[in-house]
Amino acid sequence: MLQGDFQPKKPTRKQLIKLSIFGLIGLVPLTALVFFFMFLFSAWLGKPMAVFGYDEGPTQPIAFPHTRHVQELGLDCTFCHRNVTKGAAATIPPVGLCMTCHKVVGEGLPEVEKLQAIYDSGKPIDWVRVHRVPDHVHFNHQAHILFFSQRDAIAPSQVCATCHGDVGGMVKVKQARYLKMADCVNCHRDNGAPTDCVTCHY
Ligand code: HEC
Ligand code: HEC
Ligand code: HEC
Ligand code: HEC
Ligand code: HEC
Repeated sequence: MLQGDFQPKKPTRKQLIKLSIFGLIGLVPLTALVFFFMFLFSAWLGKPMAVFGYDEGPTQPIAFPHTRHVQELGLDCTFCHRNVTKGAAATIPPVGLCMTCHKVVGEGLPEVEKLQAIYDSGKPIDWVRVHRVPDHVHFNHQAHILFFSQRDAIAPSQVCATCHGDVGGMVKVKQARYLKMADCVNCHRDNGAPTDCVTCHY
């Protein structure tokens, strides 16, 4: 065959249109299939809803319901997360604080009995962290809580929802906001807070 002798047949306009329509129709089941396998994969990892951007939050060693303690008993966030207005970490309360009530309250409830057994063993509870920034980032609760509670004249515990959502309404705590770098920096820019790298990085 001589060079340039072979001319591929150019598809007609009609054929092109047909081709793209079939292509599009084919895309639908393909997308569905991809989603299906993502769903299977994340279900296998134990988080079926993660595909849709909803993560359930980790299972804790004791099923501690914020709902009961915040909504029903009316405890303030700072009653348990005592360091939140005083330092970088909000802190999780020690078992001893729980026991001021649970030496008697909730007798016979299985999760409270677990709590009492841990207290008797003298060991701390290994709560699973829900929020965590990487080691090269520093975050400081105190600065954020004081800034927004003063600016908006609200109680410190009313600031939490900005970043954590309605924890008082959660049976199981899950992350409600991205809190990735872009999210942090955008809020800093909007509120006149520093955005230079050393503010957040060591
Ligand atoms: C009776 C004590 C108590 C009160 C009151 C309380 N918490 Fe908690 N909080 C805990 C304990 C215990 C944990 C750890 C177990 C868990 O994650 O469910 C926790 C976990 C959290 C976490 C997840 C921490 C992580 O690992 O990232 C957030 C966020 C939080 N609380 C916010 C709040 C907010 C906001 C309020 C008020 C609306 C509040 N808490 C009231 C005891 C309390
Ligand atoms: C101010 C008192 C108080 C404190 C402090 C307190 N609780 Fe409770 N908690 C209660 C009451 C009241 C109930 C409801 C008991 C009932 O329904 O009989 C309860 C219920 C519970 C339950 C059972 C929920 C259910 O429905 O099965 C668990 C688990 C629990 N608390 C864990 C904790 C832990 C962990 C801490 C410490 C971080 C803590 N509580 C601190 C008062 C308290
Ligand atoms: C500006 C956003 C922001 C606000 C407002 C905020 N948090 Fe947090 N919180 C975070 C971030 C980010 C982390 C992860 C920090 C880390 O890994 O060091 C976190 C972690 C936590 C933790 C687990 C680790 C720790 O510090 O002990 C608790 C508990 C907590 N927050 C409670 C609260 C409570 C209670 C309030 C309100 C009084 C609040 N937070 C307000 C962003 C926020
Ligand atoms: C809702 C808005 C908002 C979000 C989200 C937010 N910040 Fe901030 N941040 C502020 C404001 C406002 C200040 C300034 C506080 C002041 O001037 O006292 C600040 C101050 C800081 C400071 C300086 C604290 C100090 O000691 O002066 C650090 C560090 C910081 N933020 C880190 C972070 C990181 C890391 C994240 C994301 C995980 C984050 N912030 C998310 C609003 C936000
Ligand atoms: C307001 C806080 C804040 C500021 C300001 C900030 N960062 Fe970050 N940065 C974060 C947080 C939070 C993370 C971790 C979460 C993530 O990966 O998005 C991060 C992650 C990173 C990472 C790692 C990304 C990865 O994939 O692991 C790099 C690199 C980085 N930042 C560089 C910078 C540089 C360069 C600047 C200055 C131009 C800067 N950051 C300013 C909060 C900040």
